Amino acid sequence: MQRKRIKEVLAAEEPLGEVRVQGWVRTRRDSKTFSFLEINDGSSLGSLQAVYDASRPGYPEHLPLLQTGASVEITGTVVRSQGKGQSWELQVQTLQVLGSAPETYPLQKKRHTREFLREIAHLRPRSNLFGAVFRIRSRLSYAIHQFFQERGFVHVHTPIITASDCEGAGEMFRVTTLEGNAFSAPGAETRDFFGKRAFLTVSGQLEGETFACAFSNIYTFGPTFRAENSNTARHAAEFWMIEPEMAFCDLIGDMEVAESLIQYLIRDAMDHSSEDLAFCDEFVDRGLLERLRLIAGQPFARISYTDAIEILLRSGRSFEYPVVWGHHLQTEHERFLSEEHAKGPVTIFDYPASIKPFYMRQNEDGRTVAAMDLLVPGIGEIIGGSQREERLDRLTGAMSAQGLSESDYWWYLDLRRYGTVPHAGFGLGFERLVMLVTGVENIRDVIPFPRTPRNADF
Ligand code: 4AD
Repeated sequence: MQRKRIKEVLAAEEPLGEVRVQGWVRTRRDSKTFSFLEINDGSSLGSLQAVYDASRPGYPEHLPLLQTGASVEITGTVVRSQGKGQSWELQVQTLQVLGSAPETYPLQKKRHTREFLREIAHLRPRSNLFGAVFRIRSRLSYAIHQFFQERGFVHVHTPIITASDCEGAGEMFRVTTLEGNAFSAPGAETRDFFGKRAFLTVSGQLEGETFACAFSNIYTFGPTFRAENSNTARHAAEFWMIEPEMAFCDLIGDMEVAESLIQYLIRDAMDHSSEDLAFCDEFVDRGLLERLRLIAGQPFARISYTDAIEILLRSGRSFEYPVVWGHHLQTEHERFLSEEHAKGPVTIFDYPASIKPFYMRQNEDGRTVAAMDLLVPGIGEIIGGSQREERLDRLTGAMSAQGLSESDYWWYLDLRRYGTVPHAGFGLGFERLVMLVTGVENIRDVIPFPRTPRNADF
């Protein structure tokens, strides 16, 4: 008999008759003549109630093995349920315990704190919360490909090991095969695996630009790494980024793609992950669905950085970090702009050149660049992007001002030598997107095994 996933059994219009299911026991309740087992196989939030009658083989010998966490295979008949909360239940014919779980199984029925669940990151996918979050994450990943593929973007796999520092911030993990003293010996770099210094990528953008300058529209979707010592709820040392890059596109076109991507993904989640989102709305963040509906339905605000500074200064708020033109916007500023000023997502554009990387297109005012950050309620920045500097002389000027050597970026500069075009792109932090869609407030709880300063367990 072919296995049926529990989602399919629960969603059926008519009882499916004889089925075989496999899964893990969530709970067991006994009466004198039978036991109720809640079986979950990860296909949906909902579990299937199995009724294990005392007349069936293995009863009651199996009971000590059938604790929360045990894995089972059951064949039986699906019938209309007499109980509340479910349409169908499974009347057990045969039950096989594949793996028992003792009473020390850490995920018992009571609700656990997120901190505790991080300590059992190998088991937390079996909890309701992580089931919902990771099914939504999976669907979002699929929808991202769908969005770009429907629009003719080519998916490019940019390298994970790189020699160039895209963001110019120097917050990179070194990749080396040298050990001990060999690492610091003179000329070590030339004896290293690649014959030069190599790092884990912070962004696929620079390589992505080479493909955009051939295919017009491309996107990357891959892991990126940052050795920044930020112990916040929004920063991870390893995270996933989606980076579209579009030739023949300016900053306005870039913003339009960013805004429609976010709205598309939220609508897709509401259409295809409604059960899991309803769970998040009830147990994670009350008001989540209402907020998502608003974001999906209204145009996003756009404010220049200079106007944003004015708004912050006039807000009458006392912020922890001073509001000064030329300084980075801090999370508290970003959240004010989005949550209280725009009351929804807002794109801030035209940032001071001095706080942005070398590759951003210089504006005619001589002090700002064609950058944009998309800020959303509850999180702050979710997207960072820009129009790229396509003029060779301006680009080399910015590089020398930031102390970057032209010889390290010769191939990047070639794009400006051979058929240069206006082009633009952005990076969407995938975990921040999952936080936005699920309402989960800590990045450690939307990635399977979080990597943060002093933490690479599991
Ligand atoms: O603004 P960022 O640094 O932009 C870039 O890397 C550009 N090269 C992207 C491009 O134009 N192709 O990062 C983009 C996004 C941020 O808006 C944020 O959502 C996410 O990546 N991000 C992080 N997410 C989790 N942990 C971190 N440490 C992150 N740093 C950035």
